[in-house]
Amino acid sequence: MTEVLEIDDIQGLVVRGYGTLHAARFLLLEVTDPEAARRYLASAITRVNRASESPADVALQLAFTAHGMTQLGISEQVLATFSREFIEGMADSVRAESLGDLGANAPDAWRWGRANIHAMVMVYATSATIDEQVGRELAELAAGFRVVHEQRTTHLPDHKEHFGWRDGLSMPTIDGVPSRGHHEHPPKPSWTTPLAPGEFVLGYRNEYGVRSESPVVVLASDPNNQLPYTDDRTHKDLGRNGTYLVYRQYTQHVQALWRTLASNTTDAEAAIALGAKMVGRWPNGAPIVDADHDDPEMATNNDFLYYGTAKDHDRIGLKCPIGAHVRRANPRDQLAPDRTGSDSIAMVRKHQMIRRGRPYGPPVSETMDPHELLTAPADREDRGLHFICVVGAINRQFELVQRSWLHSANFNGLFEDGDPISAVRVRDANANDDFTVPCEPVRKKYKELPAFTQLVGGAYFFLPSIAALRFIARAPASPSSAPGAGSSASPSTRPPLR
Ligand code: HEM
Repeated sequence: MTEVLEIDDIQGLVVRGYGTLHAARFLLLEVTDPEAARRYLASAITRVNRASESPADVALQLAFTAHGMTQLGISEQVLATFSREFIEGMADSVRAESLGDLGANAPDAWRWGRANIHAMVMVYATSATIDEQVGRELAELAAGFRVVHEQRTTHLPDHKEHFGWRDGLSMPTIDGVPSRGHHEHPPKPSWTTPLAPGEFVLGYRNEYGVRSESPVVVLASDPNNQLPYTDDRTHKDLGRNGTYLVYRQYTQHVQALWRTLASNTTDAEAAIALGAKMVGRWPNGAPIVDADHDDPEMATNNDFLYYGTAKDHDRIGLKCPIGAHVRRANPRDQLAPDRTGSDSIAMVRKHQMIRRGRPYGPPVSETMDPHELLTAPADREDRGLHFICVVGAINRQFELVQRSWLHSANFNGLFEDGDPISAVRVRDANANDDFTVPCEPVRKKYKELPAFTQLVGGAYFFLPSIAALRFIARAPASPSSAPGAGSSASPSTRPPLR
């Protein structure tokens, strides 16, 4: 049964990427004065955009790291009810190793994310107004926070990322919410139905049919009745209508990618075709499993499978290599296949993410035409992708995909390949620096590829509901905004926190 999402209480990024607001800035903040920081939050709540709104000129979103939650006064006991990976953080050494964040990508070498990031203010606006909007937030938050990094973004033509490929095409939809991505109405893939809301919003049923895990507080800590009750009414639900954000900043070595493509091929068209094999889509978006050229008619097509369909199949990857970025990141019907691939589809539905990333830094070519990218001279500009995704379970969704599908050298029968475009290269016993292209009569292997990206920062954030924001800010609830308002429970009940 479809659950009704409380879209007035959910921050907007869950359902829309604010794609018409071309400029965005992410302020990574350290709390310097908790009292003043909470005052800022209390005053900012009215400006925070909810999922029910479609703002035309500016949008604001607020998120917190685990350290930030404690800095703002959330107790250790309450923090312990958040997911383990959120509490430990992305920079935790064991976690980083398991994600493949090694060598050049290891947290020790990051620009940010190891410590002192407590909160993130995300401002989306038009290019003409972004400076003014950010200036206004900076003035408001200055008493409580220090800006550790002000992350700028770039708007590239045709929704492209810096390597020259169209991004944001494949996007899961949430049951009961109209889908929003870069396009207002992306074609709905027939191979999947919208996902259970608990995959992306805490406190709702997920693809297992159970409520996604959500942090809680004891009843006594919510005397103003700002938070909704848990099902068993023994606690208040701090997580409901909130979610987690995964933020990873990648620099992209655009010329290195194109030089590699050029040096392994004989002409520009072959170089572009090899790049398409690595991504799994042509630069303008057409999926290579269905399109043998960069067909504009198929640019936004997301209705395709790999293992088998009546129309077509590509079981061994002759069209789209098993190791192509999109085939690794979302293997669709390819894994654990039964006769129809439906087992695989049921499984991959539990490992989806809503991507909300934005590129940053100057483009190598203003047009983003692959022919220009191919011949562009090297430069020393800092450019890349602020990879951001929304997930209800960091470990099951983002971490599994990153660790087992993108980084692993042993993905789906491959044994020395990592993700061709995003993986750090490992050259030891677990080497993952090959890229295998199945071909008749024999496969072609591109060996010892360099890394085309470097991870330079990252953190896990909690994107609270509006009610939870009020609770964190200790701001009084307005009667209409307290989901639990009107319910009664004895504040003297003090169950142990789970
Ligand atoms: C600099 C790093 C990256 C770049 C340049 C990049 C680029 C792209 C591009 C061009 C697409 C195809 C367009 C689309 O389907 O929307 C794509 C798809 C995708 N990427 Fe990435 N990506 C990067 C890192 C990552 C990471 C770290 C993850 C997850 C851990 C990820 C997950 C995905 C997913 C899930 C898809 C959609 C696959 C599908 O459903 O077909 N990407 N990416």
